Amino acid sequence: MTERVILAPSMIAADWWRAEQSVRDLEGIGAGWLHFDAMDGHFVPNLTLGPMFLEALRPHTTLHFDAHLMIEDAGARVDDFLRAGANSISVHVENNPHLHRVLARIREGGALCGAVINPGTPVSSLEAVLDSVDYVLVMSVNPGFSGQKFLPLSLPKVRELKRLREEKRLDFRIQIDGGMSVESAPEAVAAGADILVSASGLFVKNQPLEQSARALWEAIGRGLQERDRGRADLV
Ligand code: DX5
Ligand code: ZN
Repeated sequence: MTERVILAPSMIAADWWRAEQSVRDLEGIGAGWLHFDAMDGHFVPNLTLGPMFLEALRPHTTLHFDAHLMIEDAGARVDDFLRAGANSISVHVENNPHLHRVLARIREGGALCGAVINPGTPVSSLEAVLDSVDYVLVMSVNPGFSGQKFLPLSLPKVRELKRLREEKRLDFRIQIDGGMSVESAPEAVAAGADILVSASGLFVKNQPLEQSARALWEAIGRGLQERDRGRADLV
């Protein structure tokens, strides 16, 4: 386990019937953030969790709640997620014409703010707001469903963000979401990802959570070694 990388299990694949126990289990495997995927059936072709789900779980854990809004008119919903106890909220660049205003509202509300880019969206689309975000979420699948295959086109974007962060002397974190597995996690971490979201990589059928978590943490460790080696090569 390492604090250089935050593991953010996505509740989308947890057992919703016994959500409180899932949260307990996730506390035990070193989860740093709990990721909540809010989908509205319009921006993405699926319907999932709303603020009431966060609110119901809020009294049961002190873990950081991270809300990823894949919904239309996210700006109008931000306050609901703040009230429900979200500690961070991310909104997509693609459907938020007033992105800067929405990000500022999230921060005013006391949460960390994140801007998200889909696989088809370039890093340049959010360069103007990089000094106004706490984290950037790079989607490594097209949002909507858990269990999709990792898209390697996300890796150059993570590297570019890391480079821009150094160049502009900023301190936002880089989050990656979609298809994180023991194969893809090392590459994502080596590229510079600081927060890894994972649903299907953690919640594996007929496999104890501890087992998949151990494998994922080991994969993260390999990625960090590779990242450090790359840095050493540059000196
Ligand atoms: C995708 C969601 C992800 C997804 C992750 O639309 O934003 O958080 O649930 O699922 P896996 O890890 O299975 O790709
Ligand atoms: Zn997500």
